[in-house]
Amino acid sequence: MDGNGRWAKQRGLPRIEGHRRGVETVRTITFAARDLGVRQLTLYAFSAENWNRPAEEVGALMGLLEFYLKKELATFVRDKVRLRTIGRIEGLPAGVQRLLRETTEKTKDFGDYTLVLALNYGARNEVVDAARAYAAAVASGAEKLNDSSWGTFSRYLYTADMPDPDLVIRTSGETRISNFLLMQAAYAELIFTPVLWPDFSKADLAAAIAEYARRERRYGLTSEQIRPAAAAK
Ligand code: IPE
Ligand code: MG
Repeated sequence: MDGNGRWAKQRGLPRIEGHRRGVETVRTITFAARDLGVRQLTLYAFSAENWNRPAEEVGALMGLLEFYLKKELATFVRDKVRLRTIGRIEGLPAGVQRLLRETTEKTKDFGDYTLVLALNYGARNEVVDAARAYAAAVASGAEKLNDSSWGTFSRYLYTADMPDPDLVIRTSGETRISNFLLMQAAYAELIFTPVLWPDFSKADLAAAIAEYARRERRYGLTSEQIRPAAAAK
């Protein structure tokens, strides 16, 4: 979710106004994604690097997050949205942590649709945390070093029991990954759109999914291997 600041600047508004509008987009897109058949949506809401922004903006973002969680808890329960998080949650303000715990606990049994918030998230931190946990498991004998594989190691990532993303969309015209799900997105399709996050609509999401559907995912194979029938024609 990128472009809140520029959206505000274009209108002569303070950056936080862009973030406020960005939260509205989060609401819209959370339900638009489900309508379009998405089973899991991960939103990169706050990166480990975002702490380095001006204190005033960080404070406002944490305030907005708390406001959002308070307001959405009832909606998630009513509409059966399972909320999960990835990132160093222990680094967030205590009030936000409490709300996240409460919301994840109350929605944990909903199986059809999952909203994942990446908060205080960074892919490099995630690898370090996973390596540490994996090393501890090897040291305790719970894992055997000789059995190491992506299948075993990936169980120590924040995303342990989540599917890898099929599609990663970045808004606002930047063409970077910026430390988002680096390992999990190894085979994801990437779409970069110039639309600023506050303007990102259900139609934009539908267009991205339509483009995704036109692509051929080969996972290192040849086109003929993927579509033997089509190749024979
Ligand atoms: C993304 O919008 C929102 C967060 C990082 C929380 P930005 O704040 O990065 O917006 P720009 O990049 O300044 O336009
Ligand atoms: Mg930005």
